[in-house]
Amino acid sequence: MNLFIKKPIESFESDMKKSELKRVLGKWSLTAIGIGAIIGGGIFVLTGTGAYYHAGPALALSFVFAGIACVFAALCYSEFASMIPVEGSAYAYAYGTIGELFAWIIGWGLILEYAMGSMTVAVSWSGYFNKLLHLFNLELPLYLTQDPASYTGEGFSMNLPATLIVLLVTALLVKGTKEAAKANNIIVIMKVTAVLFVIIAGAFCIHVANWHPFIPEATSIVREGKAVEAYGWGGVFSGAAAIFFAYVGFDAVSTQAGEAINPKKDVPFAIVASLLVCTVLYILVSLVLTGMINYTDFNPNGSYPDAIKAPVAYAFQIAGMDWASYLITIAATVGLISVLMVMMLGQSRIFLGMSKDGLIPKFFSDLHSTNKTPYKNTIFIGVVVALVAGFTPISTLADMTSFGTLFAFTMVCIAVWLLRVREPNLQRNFKVPALPVIAILGILINTVLMYKLSDDAKKLSAAWLAIGFVVYFLYSRHHSKLNNPKN
Ligand code: ALA
Repeated sequence: MNLFIKKPIESFESDMKKSELKRVLGKWSLTAIGIGAIIGGGIFVLTGTGAYYHAGPALALSFVFAGIACVFAALCYSEFASMIPVEGSAYAYAYGTIGELFAWIIGWGLILEYAMGSMTVAVSWSGYFNKLLHLFNLELPLYLTQDPASYTGEGFSMNLPATLIVLLVTALLVKGTKEAAKANNIIVIMKVTAVLFVIIAGAFCIHVANWHPFIPEATSIVREGKAVEAYGWGGVFSGAAAIFFAYVGFDAVSTQAGEAINPKKDVPFAIVASLLVCTVLYILVSLVLTGMINYTDFNPNGSYPDAIKAPVAYAFQIAGMDWASYLITIAATVGLISVLMVMMLGQSRIFLGMSKDGLIPKFFSDLHSTNKTPYKNTIFIGVVVALVAGFTPISTLADMTSFGTLFAFTMVCIAVWLLRVREPNLQRNFKVPALPVIAILGILINTVLMYKLSDDAKKLSAAWLAIGFVVYFLYSRHHSKLNNPKN
């Protein structure tokens, strides 16, 4: 039994030829999938926390810094996608370079990014949906909007909207990738329009004085009863970790390689393009936001105690544009549906790749006879995500999604460098410039961000990875096709 056995690069090529997935995604649909996954609750919600507890007006620099971390990783993903265009994403790249055990643990870590990300997004969607109902003077009873642990009343309760939206998205994904991509395209147009609106309309409400000092002097402030370090350059970096969730998603493009018409060219293009578009939008939104209201106004114990929960919508309310905050609520409600869709799509394709290699049961790679989607695995993911989102207090765990993502990014940066050294002559349609510098910077910056995540997230994620090792030794290594060719 070889724990470090590597999948030969040629077998990815033959896997790709054997793939029965329908190739329906072009360059722009893939780019829209990236944007669909990236722009979500993060930018509308985390900016307040980032500004008040971490960076002040320098939040824009936190976005630059996190954006750079993502660009390094995106370039490394792109090189792989141009060589190994299969659905497993970072898991598959590691299998071809570092070896089976690492690939497994990356795949396991990706469950944090995609499945746990989906749960978090479903719960925050439910929050927006309730707010939207509220705008129309409608209200769901409390027992249908809260998971049992958070419920303050007696008797049965669940987060019904979170469960229902997951089941709806699952149905769409089973129907077909083309149908899901069409819905995604429409939502992306809406979302980008909303973000552009925030930037343009918000620009007229900027008070330049709010940007002074741009990087407030480092100090300690009280957060949930504890003194924490804030502002200064340290705050810029911890702010980058705090808002990192807003960038999560562009790598989902790489899970669509099996359905791309021209994966070796279009997947790298879409990864980089979607990330760049969102990075520019995010930097502008954060500049506008901290210009519209002073970062100190996000103090949850100050004059606007709720501002930190919905900072962008609040900024417009304070500026006397209530209608704009309604628009933002609508855009976020609809926009989050596509994040959920792409995250669940990504998870099902990663499971598909792992199942083809024998590391998880074959059930996960059965395709629907007419739709050609991995319907059993999609339904499995849908049911698990729907139940967890409906019945557990998951919303506080967004940091674990960031952990899973940063872990995969770091590994992909290592793997791309390794493969260049080992197999310099492989055909690469896209090459990371200035390697190994970009890979080293990517490894460093992503590791620092991982380190800056909350202690709870780090501990829980480490526990998750430990469970992954147990599953590998109990199940996967005995079923791995590479290690057990006779199976
Ligand atoms: N980047 C996605 C969001 O912000 C996950 O919702």
